[in-house]
Amino acid sequence: MAHNPPYAAIGHPVTTARESAARTLFIYGFLAGHLLESFAMKNDTHITPENHVKAPHPILKDYYEDEGARKQFVRGIFDRTAQNYDRVERMMAFGSGSWHRRQCLLKAGLKEGMEVLDVAMGTGLVAREAIGIVGDPSKVIGLDPSAGMLAEARKLLNVPTIQAMGEQLPVPANQFDFLSMGYALRHLSNLEQVFSEYFRVLKPGGTVCILEITRPKYKISTLLLKAYMKGIVPLLTRLTTRHGETVLLFEYYWDTIEACVAPEKVLEALRNVGFAEVTRRTELSIFSAYTGKKPG
Ligand SMILES: C[S@@+](CC[C@H](N)C(=O)[O-])C[C@H]1O[C@@H](n2cnc3c(N)ncnc32)[C@H](O)[C@@H]1O
Repeated sequence: MAHNPPYAAIGHPVTTARESAARTLFIYGFLAGHLLESFAMKNDTHITPENHVKAPHPILKDYYEDEGARKQFVRGIFDRTAQNYDRVERMMAFGSGSWHRRQCLLKAGLKEGMEVLDVAMGTGLVAREAIGIVGDPSKVIGLDPSAGMLAEARKLLNVPTIQAMGEQLPVPANQFDFLSMGYALRHLSNLEQVFSEYFRVLKPGGTVCILEITRPKYKISTLLLKAYMKGIVPLLTRLTTRHGETVLLFEYYWDTIEACVAPEKVLEALRNVGFAEVTRRTELSIFSAYTGKKPG
């Protein structure tokens, strides 16, 4: 456990001209896409029966050959890009990421005094919002397999951390009121196995809250989002970080979103392991917040 100053003591970096230009481009592009969509009235082609799989996406041969290599790839790339992650995330989300994460946690029912496990904490972007809500850093535990990400998180947050995977949580059953996971669903190996771990460590009545970016329902929005995330974000990442692996991470980011199972499969996997009141809230049809309650 690190003993650094709490995050509140550290200022938020300033938005650059490049970030503002990207924001304007994206907002106008996305609004145009929504308008076109409302005229197109296309059917949903995203959900197919053969999508019924337990892995969030198939093996992506452009990056690795099999499941073992996928795990190594994911661990390695997050380790080596951890120092650039917050900067690119701020640029990609136009600085709205903290607000969005906080709103999702509040809407999911996170309250003062609750005990939280933040799985896939990364640099701590969800954990720091959770701390602000529960009001005590010792009530939030951050977990991530990447030593590089955890090292970045400890620079800003004074919370207990665990280096482990969501697939096998080294914590006893019935410990937490709330379990969060931000933008890591696509990196899991088996949704039901991981969700059953989440179910196990939550107290009866506890809440799971999973944030993820989802491929939009309609082709026009998908094309616009793809142009932004596979084209503009990697380009701006190259210009601002000059780090090839960070560029690769954000290209991979889009490819996993595009290949990810439909939201219905995530909801089904949550129900299959025993969660009740399973729901998905969306914003702009791309930001998904999945929640469920452990009965009791
Ligand atoms: C995109 S970052 C998200 C970080 C943070 N939660 C956020 O909201 O920005 C994804 C994180 O998931 C972690 N991760 C990858 N595979 C994982 C797994 N199987 N279990 C738990 N975390 C995993 C990575 O190490 C990385 O830190």
